[in-house]
Amino acid sequence: MTSPDTEFINILGAAGSPEATPHVSSRSLPEVLPILGLSDIVIFPGMVAPLLVETAQSTKLIDDVVGGGDRLLGAVLQRKAEAENPLPHEMYEVGCAARVLKMLKFPDNTVRVLIEGLWRIQIKEYPTTDPYLSAKFELVKDLKEDSVELTAMMRNAQSQFQEIIKLSPALSEQIKIAALNTEEPGHFADLIAVNLNLGLEERQKLLETNSVKERLTRLLPMLNREHEVLTLSSKIQSEVATSISKTQRDFFLREQMRAIQRELGESDPNAGEIRALREKIEQTPLPPEPKQVATQELERLQQMPPAAAEYGVSRHYLDWILSLPWTKETEDKIDLVEAERILNEQHFGLTKVKDRLLEFLAVIKRRKQIKGPILCLVGPPGVGKTSLGRSVAEALGRKFARISLGGMRDEAEIRGHRRTYVGALPGRIIQTLRRVESRNPVIMLDELDKVGADFRGDPAAALLEVLDPAQNNTFTDHYLDLPFDLSRVLFLTTANWLEPVHPALRDRLEVIELPSYTESEKLQIAKRYLVPRQLEEHGLAKKEVKIPDATLRRVIHDYTREAGVRQLEREIAALTRKATRRIVSNGNGDKPLVMAPDSLKDYLGAARFVNETAETIKECGIATGLAWTPVGGEILFIEATRMPGKGGLLLTGSLGDVMKESAQTAVSYLRSQAKLLGIDLTDYANYDLHIHVPAGATPKDGPSAGVTLVAALASLLTRRRVRSDVAMTGEISLRGRVMRVGGIKEKVLAAARFGIKQVILPEQNRGDWSEVPEEVRHKLTAHFIRHISELLPLALREK
Ligand SMILES: Nc1ncnc2c1ncn2[C@@H]1O[C@H](COP(=O)(O)OP(=O)(O)OP(=O)(O)O)[C@@H](O)[C@H]1O
Ligand SMILES: [Mg+2]
Repeated sequence: MTSPDTEFINILGAAGSPEATPHVSSRSLPEVLPILGLSDIVIFPGMVAPLLVETAQSTKLIDDVVGGGDRLLGAVLQRKAEAENPLPHEMYEVGCAARVLKMLKFPDNTVRVLIEGLWRIQIKEYPTTDPYLSAKFELVKDLKEDSVELTAMMRNAQSQFQEIIKLSPALSEQIKIAALNTEEPGHFADLIAVNLNLGLEERQKLLETNSVKERLTRLLPMLNREHEVLTLSSKIQSEVATSISKTQRDFFLREQMRAIQRELGESDPNAGEIRALREKIEQTPLPPEPKQVATQELERLQQMPPAAAEYGVSRHYLDWILSLPWTKETEDKIDLVEAERILNEQHFGLTKVKDRLLEFLAVIKRRKQIKGPILCLVGPPGVGKTSLGRSVAEALGRKFARISLGGMRDEAEIRGHRRTYVGALPGRIIQTLRRVESRNPVIMLDELDKVGADFRGDPAAALLEVLDPAQNNTFTDHYLDLPFDLSRVLFLTTANWLEPVHPALRDRLEVIELPSYTESEKLQIAKRYLVPRQLEEHGLAKKEVKIPDATLRRVIHDYTREAGVRQLEREIAALTRKATRRIVSNGNGDKPLVMAPDSLKDYLGAARFVNETAETIKECGIATGLAWTPVGGEILFIEATRMPGKGGLLLTGSLGDVMKESAQTAVSYLRSQAKLLGIDLTDYANYDLHIHVPAGATPKDGPSAGVTLVAALASLLTRRRVRSDVAMTGEISLRGRVMRVGGIKEKVLAAARFGIKQVILPEQNRGDWSEVPEEVRHKLTAHFIRHISELLPLALREK
């Protein structure tokens, strides 16, 4: 929630004070109020403020509140302004019960509301957080305090505030009137709090203070200060007015002086800057071509009046040329033993990947240059691609920079804009080089698979030039318009999958695959890397907090479901945050804080994936398939049903062509083998078959769902259910042969994640089984089949 226009905010004084508000009395407040999170405003009792409602959650809240009749809600400041859907612990505990006076919907789907603060409330608990936060609360009344002292403070504040109103252009007439008519000290303190220029936290503190005396005690010095600032600033204002006209006059005089000096053949006052630039060009080690261009540019600059827009452009260009690392580079320290140590120190496991990287470094060491294929680390999110790149840079002793290609659609982002454009800049490659101040950094081009292309040109084409060792020694950025030698840069790339990568680019890549992690690998990574790192980041010593393996295992299992460890890292960060708070507020004595598995609920909330193993199959016509996706393996359910019709086949779930053909093949096979399989097809022509693959982020193409389709259809036609604990993958031929498919390892890892017990795989994939980590092989039984006839006895239950 943001306030679009703070100028509107004012207090309606006596007329708007809660007692006088018609229709609402504090007794009519419900027990539970919906809670609106505020990001940049604190609502006080008696204050009327416009709010801009942007998030879907808050819009729903406002809709319900306005539709429901009493129009009441609790307005509470969020601890983090940017949280879109804040959680209970991200909210302050004291807020203000408020009433929606008016609501306006705008065409851009935002909603504006005018709300009026009524009473302070103390939040007790949040019984529900869905579809938005709702809380039980208690009204907070102002304390009853000694009235003589209060009156004195109030008078003092009154007179200060009146002075401020006189001096401040921002405060309106209305506030002046409100101030004169507010007699109740509590309301008056709130009126000042709203209208004085205070920070959010200060405002929140004032809201949380229910002693009026204390509120006024805090406000008085601020009023005093504001008064002084305003007096001073009005004095400055009048001085500035005279000095502006003076600057303008000076400018004209100077220009005239320059013209006269030129006429007289005297030296230019601008000469100082030009001289400095010339010296810089001489001192900077530049290759011949840039040196020549820079000198020419300087000549041009000399001819121009410094006030001309051209001057700025030209100056900017010269700065770019002079600040690039044309010859500057770091010295490589390729010590393979040390490199291995660094890779191991920062990453668990990944033996093959590390070996491959070390081989790569060995070649660089021997050839002293980088030619040949570009390494591309491919794998699901959060398996350490980016962080491996960082380690490689560290091992080489080179600077590291990351360029994210995700969503890049404009060639100019790589290659820059021509200087004729207003505000033109070099592309990301040149910018990065200037930033790292070295011409041989490790540059990681992240998310190669997410490069787009549109009418502004194809960034992939520019990348091709950047990555091609035969061309990149004369890479020419449009802005720079000078060749820059990129051949010393070590480019590494990453992608989730290679399919969307431009074929010509893919051709130049040497792919290193990073697989998903198993649960025990995740445990080791968490124990050895993530936990120590988070403890350090939170300033905790190892002996202060103990997170036992059992707890970590439960976090992995119940709170994350991912191929990598990114979510896991986030959950561990949340745990350490909680631990820090506990230790800071309670002190922990000598004993470490042990985070037991059973206490996870208190730290992280309810388990997110508990027992959510594969759905139990209760009907005929459903089968569980295994799919491969760029973010790791997945399981998917295929449903088949049949209805009166004309022997047709209906396919839904936005399936790709290959998958549709697989479905037809499956039907044809079953029909041709009906007798053998004991399927009764006498009235086939009176029915339509319908196959559906329910939604999900799974790409639904490729032939690997063949056996799953057969299983679903066979189950439907034989009226035998498919076993719930079985999942399968495999392509089929018309003759019923089961053929090899890809991604076995990721698929099997996913099956294990989802609690599947048996997998059915093509015999041709038997070789891939050994790639599956042993720990997972233990948990699952694999059946390798050559032919569909072997599938049905394994997949279907007895009648
Ligand atoms: N084997 C590992 N050992 C130690 N830490 C790891 C390992 N794998 C991943 N991490 C940690 O997990 C986090 C996420 O890794 P990283 O950002 O490198 O993922 P990524 O593969 O680049 O993901 P994305 O595809 O989303 O960019 C990092 O903090 C990283 O250090
Ligand atoms: Mg990454």
